Amino acid sequence: MKLKMMVLVATGALLSVGTVSAQDVAALLKSKNCLNCHAIEAKKMGPSYKELSAKYTKEAMPAIVKKLRDGQGHMKVTGTDDELNAIVEFALSQK
Ligand code: HEC
Repeated sequence: MKLKMMVLVATGALLSVGTVSAQDVAALLKSKNCLNCHAIEAKKMGPSYKELSAKYTKEAMPAIVKKLRDGQGHMKVTGTDDELNAIVEFALSQK
């Protein structure tokens, strides 16, 4: 019971966007192939999510979501607003 509460609180803190859960984000990162070019810690073809978290604040989210959605300067990423917001927020939260 207590543990369940803690898990809920932790999940809420991690992701406050829309209806996409932390688990869904992990699945999205895989299904949308983000992890082919990005890793949390290591630089691959694209910058690591830690690097991006250091570079950007949450204020940059809308512009980055737009960039991914429109495929401008990045490969085009399709998904709902909730999905894109959740994965970008995740990418920018890896302190
Ligand atoms: C084909 C390789 C590739 C894939 C797949 C890919 N990325 Fe990227 N990504 C890059 C490269 C290269 C950059 C650096 C160039 C740039 O800034 O757009 C980048 C940059 C970014 C940035 C920073 C953008 C900025 O304005 O600085 C974010 C955030 C990001 N990717 C998220 C994602 C997410 C989320 C996914 C999956 C939906 C994804 N990427 C899939 C290659 C990729």
